[in-house]
Amino acid sequence: MSKQVLTGMRTTGSLHLGHYVGALKQWLDVQADPNNNCFFLLADVQAYTTHADNPSLIRTSIHEVVLDWLAAGLNPNLGNVHFVLQSAITARSQIYQYLTMIATMGEVERNPTIKEEIRRQKHPTIGFFTYPVDQVADIVMVTPSDATPDQNILVPVGKDQVPHLEYSRELARRFNANYGFVLLECKELVGEVGRLVGTDGNEKMSKSAGNTINLNDADEDIRAKVKVMYTDPNRTSFRDAGTEDGLAKHLPLQYHLALNPNKERAEELVAAYLQGGIKDVEIKNELTEVLIELITPMRERRAEAERNADVVEIVRQGTLDTIPLAEGVLERMRSAMHLDFF
Ligand code: TRP
Repeated sequence: MSKQVLTGMRTTGSLHLGHYVGALKQWLDVQADPNNNCFFLLADVQAYTTHADNPSLIRTSIHEVVLDWLAAGLNPNLGNVHFVLQSAITARSQIYQYLTMIATMGEVERNPTIKEEIRRQKHPTIGFFTYPVDQVADIVMVTPSDATPDQNILVPVGKDQVPHLEYSRELARRFNANYGFVLLECKELVGEVGRLVGTDGNEKMSKSAGNTINLNDADEDIRAKVKVMYTDPNRTSFRDAGTEDGLAKHLPLQYHLALNPNKERAEELVAAYLQGGIKDVEIKNELTEVLIELITPMRERRAEAERNADVVEIVRQGTLDTIPLAEGVLERMRSAMHLDFF
């Protein structure tokens, strides 16, 4: 039986290996099952929560993200895969508005992302504050008309998104309890590797920190980036045994653990480091090979997509596939809420 899957990314720039590990890898697995009806959302409205001063970036990023998705292997030619433009689904905004009537200020204030970010931002907008509710609309808008309460919408995401999904469940449940069953709850699918640290060893791989490996990096870029990666500073001779602490800081080993398709080999390298006897340069050379093997097909697919893909048409089609679903959900919400007087 077919299952709805929805996930998304904000359109705020091109993608890197962190996006691959944290998200795209799981998305590929999900799209491979033809029973999964996959909606991949280009969240250009949500991009305004952080980039309201840069509309042209948000626009060009729609192209970039689509090309990167194609590079990673997402395939909108499959009947079960839809690339969906958030701003083009007007019913979604109305779904959001109705949800705001049952979402409380307190529970949004307690959302960990909101709590942390609101302290950092000087003038947080109302749109920023309410984006957890907006994101619930993203998810529930693909509830099919024949949905039953035992079903759910699958949402493959990184660990950081889990509180948002718990909230989505909570709001859908509340709506259904108040007005009758309309909205499907969601279920998260979190990948085994949550987040990839940047090539400088900092917490998060991000474009602004300049510590990324990009999905279209050339082999030379990859070599250069691996070459300068930090290893264990306390292990001064390759004969020395490593430590668990050192392992946590040893970037090439961490990357092996996250990315080497040969898991056994990754474990072997870790064991060799812990025992002593392996040179960092060997670990790095093997990592370079792993990365080149991973990135090369992506770079090639991206070049091909840049030449031949009709990005606008792909997004138009995926969006048109979604609009009737969202409009159906909106109509059933209005009816349940007695907002359909005529
Ligand atoms: N908030 C997500 C992120 O920043 C993007 C997103 C928007 C999303 N709408 C969504 C993720 C719905 C899952 C479901 O990565």
